[in-house]
Amino acid sequence: MIKQIEWKNDILTLLDQRLLPITEKYIECTKYDQIIDAIKTLAVRGAPLIGVSAGMGIVVASKETDKKGEELRQYVIEAEKKLRASRPTAVNLMWALDRMMPFIMSDPSDSEAYISALEKEALNIWNEDIELCRKMGEYGLEIVPQNANIITHCNTGSLATAGDGTALAVIRAAHRAGKNIHVFADETRPLLQGARLTAWELAHDSIPFTLICDGMSSYVMKNKKIDLVITGADRIAGNGDSANKIGTYGLAVSAKYHNVPFYIAAPYSTLDLSIKSGEQIVIEQRKAEEVRAFGGVRTSPENCDVLNPAFDVTPAELIAGIITDRGIVRPPFTEGLKKI
Ligand code: MRU
Repeated sequence: MIKQIEWKNDILTLLDQRLLPITEKYIECTKYDQIIDAIKTLAVRGAPLIGVSAGMGIVVASKETDKKGEELRQYVIEAEKKLRASRPTAVNLMWALDRMMPFIMSDPSDSEAYISALEKEALNIWNEDIELCRKMGEYGLEIVPQNANIITHCNTGSLATAGDGTALAVIRAAHRAGKNIHVFADETRPLLQGARLTAWELAHDSIPFTLICDGMSSYVMKNKKIDLVITGADRIAGNGDSANKIGTYGLAVSAKYHNVPFYIAAPYSTLDLSIKSGEQIVIEQRKAEEVRAFGGVRTSPENCDVLNPAFDVTPAELIAGIITDRGIVRPPFTEGLKKI
């Protein structure tokens, strides 16, 4: 079992994913500011795990202060605002905080009861995520043939969720079911979530895999017998347009060209039915330095112009199906997503 997050003695312990796979170091959060910092710097990342961490951030905020009653509630309201603004694209963050909202706004006159209600709901979100991962794995089994070669992008495993993952939960379930699969993991520039994190998880579970550079996936589709591509998502619009790690869109375009089915795996907490299409999804733009350098070593001319969108949107028409915790939704997505 990978220990990516733990709650003990009022301390939220997070595995510092920036240091993987070289160092396994944990951050002990006793202040919600530390959790915000972990989310912003990608020490903790992946849409569902960001949501779980934010929910726990509210609990940490309620416990770090001596304030009582209405002052305590105001303190928690302030924490909620800051946590909500920590990253813009993964809707699981907003979803988790929305779930916390009725408890945040409830009567704080009995401070102990107020704090324990916050803790109960945040742990509900956490435990539910473990179950959602399990169900995605179960439902996803049917799309993975025996001896399948699978391409995946970014990290969608235990390091991105509280459980087995999203796309990686499907991969794990297929491996456990004895399907003799082989995974091609995109390294995922610029921050190498595929190379550093997915490869680490696959090795941990002894799932056969080959690490490839992002630019190799078309070559791999042409020259290896690839049966499917499966990735996660950070936000899925009502029509099925799906935001995920930068590079996913290009992968889906190439999959279409090579007649390889492209699937998304995501829990219902990643759906944003308040928006009709992917055009309305805010794409996080990150620092230029992440592209200009890696691990503090400059890999490009100093101060050169850089573009660094953290995500892109794959249009629904390129997606063969969305594997959710409530079953697989096939195109056209608008009705199917509403139903689940
Ligand atoms: O910037 P990150 O590392 O948080 O991006 C993560 C992804 O893009 C994942 O693919 C996504 O969260 C879905 S899988 C849980």
